[in-house]
Amino acid sequence: MQYPEFQFLSSQTAQVAQGCYAFGIFEKNDTTPDTTHLVHTPFYHDVLIPLIKESQFTGKQGTTAMANCFHGGGKVILVGLGKQETVDEEVIRKAASMVYSACVQLHSPSVIVYFTTLLNDKTHLKAFAEGILLSAYLDQRFKSKKETKTTCLKQVSLLDAIANDQTIQLAQKITAGANLARALVNAPANHVTPAMLAQTATELAQKHHLQLNILEKEDCQRLGMGAYLSVTKGSSAPPKFIHLCYKPKSLDTQSPFQKIALIGKGVTFDSGGLNLKTGNAKIELMKFDMAGAAAMLGVAEAIGAIKPNKEIHFIIAATENMINGSATKPGDVVTASNGKTIEIDNTDAEGRLTLADALVYAEKLGVDAIVDLATLTGATVVALGIRIAGIFGTNSQLVNSLMAASPRTGEKIWQMPLEASYFEHMHSIIADMRNTGSKQGAGSITAALFLKQFVEKTAWAHLDIAGTVWTEKPWYYYKAGATGFGVRLLVDWILNS
Ligand code: BES
Ligand code: ZN
Ligand code: ZN
Repeated sequence: MQYPEFQFLSSQTAQVAQGCYAFGIFEKNDTTPDTTHLVHTPFYHDVLIPLIKESQFTGKQGTTAMANCFHGGGKVILVGLGKQETVDEEVIRKAASMVYSACVQLHSPSVIVYFTTLLNDKTHLKAFAEGILLSAYLDQRFKSKKETKTTCLKQVSLLDAIANDQTIQLAQKITAGANLARALVNAPANHVTPAMLAQTATELAQKHHLQLNILEKEDCQRLGMGAYLSVTKGSSAPPKFIHLCYKPKSLDTQSPFQKIALIGKGVTFDSGGLNLKTGNAKIELMKFDMAGAAAMLGVAEAIGAIKPNKEIHFIIAATENMINGSATKPGDVVTASNGKTIEIDNTDAEGRLTLADALVYAEKLGVDAIVDLATLTGATVVALGIRIAGIFGTNSQLVNSLMAASPRTGEKIWQMPLEASYFEHMHSIIADMRNTGSKQGAGSITAALFLKQFVEKTAWAHLDIAGTVWTEKPWYYYKAGATGFGVRLLVDWILNS
């Protein structure tokens, strides 16, 4: 995969009437664009005004117009930014994705971008670069014939924006993480096995000098991880409990969360087990059930490169959820590593079993906060759809700081209640609890309440990302497939809280 490079260009030296230009244009009202800030560009009368008229361009967010304008093959792209007062990072990120798609459509390998003074703002510049770099993700690993015709964008020149290479590099590090997560989720389950996740963690550890501990099945048995191991029993793929750790030279003593454990659900294929997924349960999509784990490896890729002053542990209890003669049966009782017993009512509620032992393990590390990301319940998709993840938590400072990162990254999250009384739905007559609620609804809440049983006192937040990790259709900077949801959110949260 080749990602475009960025350079800063001054209009003094830019060769007018050559190449491809992209202009960001605000919307004045519903029918007219606001072009006042473009009056002084050399293109205003000759190109912009005629193109705006001809395409009836209003500057509405999410719209573009393009034309071959100059002699010698010059091209112009207009990108709507919406009303000036509503511009934020996500508007810019989406606009950058529109620039990217227009360049692909126009077969232009380079583009000169003029977004007035917007990109002088560091957060906007970062968002713009992210929009381009996320859009440039192209996955042809499993095609025998690689598409070579699609001209990919190689060079993005930012016209008259204050040069800030550090911000571009930050965007490159973050999107490298997000795009790694996408590549892991997009790859099928016959490629991405627990062993392959462990291998990826090993490579990240070598690349960024991270500490790595991979626990094999016997190690997990010694630690009494009966909940996690019950899920692994039906599979011939050996489980891997991955613990990757980034340790800084010094800690950010100002932050309430200096030592953090991040846990990702890493079920590399969820068949449902003996409660096999049938009907519209989307078994064919269940390679994505390790998207939480992929996000962890993506965050590790970014954090390893950025090197902030926080200690971050990445934990993945990787396994397949399959069926063979040894598979866990509905009704079996298992004991988690904190001694609690669980009646396995439904083998398809396996994610929470793997996370239970991962949470107990994380708390023993003595961290200030634990955050888990998991494609945990279909109920979350029912409640919040595919663009919003649910967040649950016991500590408002932790939840609020994660919620604050969300609008900056455009990865939407919505707080859900941990309604304690619903835990009664998980009552078992034989064990401490069952792994599913009785059929009284609130499936994403009961799942979160189950997880809560495995955290004693550490601040904890749980993100149910079942809806947000995958998009059937392309969407702005996402191609159809994996979104890498959570990587940008967690990196932003780590850097800003
Ligand atoms: N991996 C699924 C959750 C899921 C479903 C994610 C659909 C994305 C789309 C999880 O392991 C699961 O199967 N959950 C069950 C729980 C139920 C048995 C209580 C579910 O949500 O149906
Ligand atoms: Zn399941
Ligand atoms: Zn699952």
